[in-house]
Amino acid sequence: MKELDLALKTAIFAARLAGGIQRDYTGKNFDVSSKKTRTDLVTEVDIKCEEAIIAAIKEVFPDHGALAEEKGEYAAASGNRRWIIDPLDGTVNFAHGFPMYCSSVAMEADGAVVVGAVYDPVRDEMFHASLGGGAWLNDKPIHVSTTPQLADSLLATGFPYTIRTEVLNNLTQFSAFAMRAQAIRRPGAAALDLCYVASGRLDGFWEFHLKPWDMAAGALIVAEAGGMVSSDLGGSFSVYKPAVVASNRLIHQQMIDTLEEAGRE
Ligand code: IPD
Ligand code: CA
Ligand code: CA
Repeated sequence: MKELDLALKTAIFAARLAGGIQRDYTGKNFDVSSKKTRTDLVTEVDIKCEEAIIAAIKEVFPDHGALAEEKGEYAAASGNRRWIIDPLDGTVNFAHGFPMYCSSVAMEADGAVVVGAVYDPVRDEMFHASLGGGAWLNDKPIHVSTTPQLADSLLATGFPYTIRTEVLNNLTQFSAFAMRAQAIRRPGAAALDLCYVASGRLDGFWEFHLKPWDMAAGALIVAEAGGMVSSDLGGSFSVYKPAVVASNRLIHQQMIDTLEEAGRE
């Protein structure tokens, strides 16, 4: 099997494994604690999912490195392959039993994300993509929407855990989009927000303070579904830059213009 195919198969397997753990804990008691702020939670399920994902990857690719949300960097034994993992995206939702969360697993080769899988265990939806191989929801190809105007668009966004102290806390930008778009949602799992843009359920998504693991798989899935992913000012996207705008392409410039008009605070 080609490396890319094996990596995608492994990403899908690992994301599904974590989703199974999330499903097992639904409706049960689990430990919840705060990280840096009272709003930023971690549960024992986040940790268990990360351990399961890392073990599944190491089984197939023992030399590869990883960057995972809860434990950070796992050094590579050799080579330049690195997995970028959000074991449970949407932890606040999960902790409250609000059914919008997922696992996200991506692999970087020489610094570029080449495979990604995002699994929603509530709806049994596996979004996945590999570079040049298109984007998929379960076994069907997906494409971004064809909505041409921001005024007819359904958008999503998110707010950082540091909303109370951040200058760029997205409240001004949220207001600007609320006056221009058809409607805005704040679902609470950035990886799924990106996959919803990829599958045409949303026309666009923006957020300012994301981490590589929130975006790595989802951004590839959007690009492979024919969408556009950029920085908040319309520049090149990188998982290592915290701001992202993702869209169906057609409304992209209208989103960038709205952000420019809203300013930086
Ligand atoms: C969070 C979610 C949320 C986004 C936050 C992220 P987590 O990830 O993706 O939608 O607004 O910025 O940190 O903490 O649930 O993995
Ligand atoms: Ca996350
Ligand atoms: Ca997480």
